[in-house]
This record gives sequence, structure tokens and C-alpha cells, in this order.
Amino acid sequence: MMTQRTVFPLAAKFPTICTSEIAEIPAGAGRSAGTIQGTQISMASQERTARMEKIVALCKRRGFIFQSSEIYGGQNGFWDYGPLGVELKRNVRQAWWQDMVIANDPMLPDPAAPCGFNIVGIETSIIMHPQVWKVSGHYDLFADKMVDCREAKGRYRLDHVKGRWINAALAQKPAADGTPAAQVAAEDWLVTTTVDGPEAGDAITKRACKLFGVKSNETHKLAWKSELVSLTTATEQLDRVIAPEATAPGTLTPPRDFNLMFETYTGALQSDDNKAFLRPETAQGMFVNFKNVCDSSRVRVPFGIAQIGKSFRNEITPRNFTFRSREFEQMEMEFFCQPSESFKWYSYWRDRRMKWYAALGIKSENLLLREHHNSELAHYSVGTADIEYAFPFLDEGEYGELEGVAHRGDFDLRSHSEGKLDKSLNVEMGPDGQPKYRGSGKDLSYFDDQTRERFVPHVIEPAAGCDRTTLAFLCEAYHEDEAPDDKGVMQTRVVLRLHPKLAPVKVAIFPLIKKDGQPEKALEIYKAFKDAGINVQYDAQAAIGKRYRRMDEIGTPWCITVDGDTMKDGTVTLRDRDTLEQIRVPASEVVDLIAKRLR
Ligand code: GAP
Repeated sequence: MMTQRTVFPLAAKFPTICTSEIAEIPAGAGRSAGTIQGTQISMASQERTARMEKIVALCKRRGFIFQSSEIYGGQNGFWDYGPLGVELKRNVRQAWWQDMVIANDPMLPDPAAPCGFNIVGIETSIIMHPQVWKVSGHYDLFADKMVDCREAKGRYRLDHVKGRWINAALAQKPAADGTPAAQVAAEDWLVTTTVDGPEAGDAITKRACKLFGVKSNETHKLAWKSELVSLTTATEQLDRVIAPEATAPGTLTPPRDFNLMFETYTGALQSDDNKAFLRPETAQGMFVNFKNVCDSSRVRVPFGIAQIGKSFRNEITPRNFTFRSREFEQMEMEFFCQPSESFKWYSYWRDRRMKWYAALGIKSENLLLREHHNSELAHYSVGTADIEYAFPFLDEGEYGELEGVAHRGDFDLRSHSEGKLDKSLNVEMGPDGQPKYRGSGKDLSYFDDQTRERFVPHVIEPAAGCDRTTLAFLCEAYHEDEAPDDKGVMQTRVVLRLHPKLAPVKVAIFPLIKKDGQPEKALEIYKAFKDAGINVQYDAQAAIGKRYRRMDEIGTPWCITVDGDTMKDGTVTLRDRDTLEQIRVPASEVVDLIAKRLR
């Protein structure tokens, strides 16, 4: 979804390196819709915050995710994947590619699908012809609303500011006749903050105390007139809004659009004529190559084109770790189908994509499929559902978007052919009576040689974020439990219960002691895993319990120990990360056994 960026702020509990937001939950959807009741931070919320902090710390400590350019103080909204993170993310990509591209064949139809189909891959350039973004609508419409504070010189995303209305009587001088201030008819003011989540209420109370000179133990004097509301609800009353860092009301400018596309220039001259954009989504690469793919491959509608690649959005407030970044990776698939079949395909892809997350270990209670209300839909869309995850940086009961599954109709192919369409799905005209943004003029319809029918296919688009998905898998996997140490005493352990397909290291090999031929035997097994293309680590340092802990913490599903018995009977100990069960298996069979488990 490109234009449906209505968002409201969510818990930015990681101010130093991670701050964030989430898709708006429409009123009536059963979750908070822009108001937060009360100002107390619940126990559950504190636990979630602590949990997220531990995950972020683990990511740095063990080399999953680092802040970009950290030695220079970091670059907000950009992240680097370390040695383990890069393996995890590759596995996420691989699992998606396997399910979306490799697994499908018209001759082997999925029983749940309306019929068999093909999906082919593509990799398109990040910088495309600027007309692509004019025709797609990103040039005109891909914007967030911003407000500037004339007093504090701050700039805020409109939907990231929230506040509580308060009666301003305390701020008024007593009336000339001596009537106490509290009785003077005063206006209501909106005291605002950009702090998110449960802490927002406290932040506003603190601000109000300061603004009105009320002691922190006398907050009962503050005459609140509302619960927390978004600034989006107060754009007509900006003269009564006290901006997040201002001391007086009325310092905010009216909201204005801020385009999220990063601009650059191609060639030596920096002029409007050679302005170009870093793509804000991978999807357009598929639309503009629809004809190329049809002409060069043996695909027949229905079929899909899939792509994994970087996208760039100059997010005003990147936050909550990698959840909202300025450079991120998308995994998108455009599925082209007969218009009359499109709703069946929409339902199919929505359900199938939900199953993918569940199959890779996300518990159903942490996943949500949320159909958009009509008011939320992009003008070309006749249906969109978000797949959402209960990220721990959100309040309990809130979910953040992992993927959008959108029915895009024929908007994209027609726009790229005829010129950008308007809200009524007619070509938008400029003052000269010509298309405002010209399409390619190429015929992007499809001729079905079996039915002898020509039509512009409709598109169903499952659009996932690779970084968000990776983060969700990390959050889901993080556990603390108890396991015995070398003396059999139970100790707290941190374990990432990653699905084996996603685990960065699949297996670790340990010699129990560094003599009696054990290291040599362990190295032999280690090499056999390497030869089989299975990511393996060798560790001979420290007590065995410590070595297990190191592997548990990075999610290695299996550890193999070579011990005295190995040297006598050729068996090794195979230990399971989750059950802690240890079995003995022949060393000669252990590679095949693990390979089978990974299939
Ligand atoms: N072609 C449709 C499209 O781009 P989107 O909902 O804007 O739709 C798809 O993006 C997915 O990309 C989102 O569900 C999310 O997982 C990911 N994504 C979008 N913006 C992101 C950001 N700033 N940081 C990380 N991931 C992002």
C-alpha cells in the first residue's frame, strides 16, 4: 500500500537506538484507536519493554544487528547486519523465495488455490525512470504530513504528536474582581508530546505541571478535559496547541506534505532534468517488466513476479529498532490474474501468507490478520489486509504490520500504459487537456490464447518487509528458561528458539576434551558438515555447559559432542536446543540426520 500511510504513534521505548510507530488501528477494530486510557505504566508493559531491551542488547552482543556507522555516533534509521544477522536474514529471504518462487508449478497445484500457477523471480534496478514514480502516484502522493514549531524550531510528523486537552484556567491571572483563576472561564489547551506508548501520559502530566507551575505531588489540580488524542484531531485548533517543546500555544505551522522519496541525480549535472529517485518500493519494477516477462517466459495468467530488494523511504521518525528504517528490504510479489477471479486470489494469498509466518514458528496468538476498513483503502484498492505481529515494543494487545496483502485491481498496469489514473480510475488530465503524467503508451493487456480474450490483468500483491519479518522472528524466538550447568545446578539461560530453517548456525561440534583424538574426530565431523553446505561452528573453548549456552543464545538447534565413547563406539551425543534431550547417534550418520531435519 502506498498511499494508506495513516499511522499513529506507538511505543518509542528505545530512544537511543530505536524509536517507532505502527499502522493505525481503526476505531472499532477492538484495539486502542488513538487514545490511551490512564497514565499508569502497567507491569505487563514494563515487562515487554524490558524484553525488547534484552533482544536489542542480544542483537548487538552476539552480532545480529548493529547501528549503522556506530563509531561515528550512528545514522538514524539505518542498520547493519552482523555475521549472525546476515545469516538469519538470508534464511528469511530463502524461506520466502522457496515458498513464493520455487515451490509453485501449474502442474502441481496447491489444493487451496483456485488453480495451479507459476511465479517467476526478477531483480530490477533501484533507480528507475523518474516517470515510473510520477505514474505510480509516489511523486504526488507519497507524503507524510509535517508540522513545524516556530518557537522550538522542531519538525514533527503530524500523527506522531499526541496530547491531552486541559483547562487552561491555572495559567490565567485571577480576574480583576478577585475571582480565583480556577473559576475564570478559560480556553482548553492541548498539551502535547512525541513520547509514545504508556509513557506518553506521564510525559504530558510532567509538561503540564511545568507549564502551569503545579507541583508534581499536586497533579490533581490539573483540570484534564480529555484522554490522549492524536494531533491529527486538532489541526483546526492549532492556535490552542502547545507544541511538544514549546512553552506557549499556537507555535505550530499548518500541516504540509513531506515526500518520503530520497532524491538523487544521474549524470554530471544536478538539474531537474536529471533528477532521479531511490525506489520507495520494489513493486514498480514488476509492473514495468510485465510485458518483458510475458514475452520472454512461458508464463500464463494467472502468474506472479516476485522480487526481493532494497527500498528507501526518508521516514520522518524512524523508530523501534529496525521496524521503521530509512533503508530496508522488501519481499514483494505481484500476482496477475483474470479480473473475474481476482477476489478468490485475494483470499487465497491473504490466507497463504498467514500460514507462512505460522509455519516458521510465529505463534497464532502473536499474529493478526486485519482487513482494512473501506476508509483505509487506497483509491485503486478493492481490498487490503495487513498481517500484523505483536512486537514487544508495542503495548499489550497492539500489533505492528509485517506485510500488506492488497488487491490493486488494474491500477498499475493501466497507469503505466495510459498515464496516471485519478481517484475515479480515469487518466488524470493536466491543464493542457493531456495526461498529467504520461504512461509508456505500451499495450500492457494480456491475450489469453485459450479463451481468445484480451484483458488487463488484476493484481494481488503480498508485500512483506524482510527486516520487519526478521525482527519478528527474533522477538518470537527470544526465551529465558532454566537449564542445568556442568554441575547439574539449574541456571537461567537465554535461548533463541528459531525455526531450524531460520537459525544462522544449524549445528555446533564440540570435542569434550582437547586430547585423546577427540579434537581430530570433531574436526572431521565439522568438515563433513561444511562439505554438505550446512552452516556449522566448531567450539573447543570452556566447559561444555558454557559452550551449550553460547549456542542456545544464538539459536543453534543442535550441538554434537565428541567424547570418550565416540572413540570407542563411533557414536556422538546429539543435543536438542529446545528439549535439552541428548541422544547418541553414529558419527557417520549425523550429517544426513541433520540434513533430513532441515528439509
Ligand atoms: N508495494 C506496496 C508497499 O510497498 P508497504 O505497506 O508500504 O507496501 C510493504 O510496504 C512492507 O514493507 C511493509 O509491510 C513493511 O513490512 C515493509 N516496510 C515498509 N516501510 C518500512 C520501513 N520504513 N522500514 C522497514 N520496513 C518497512
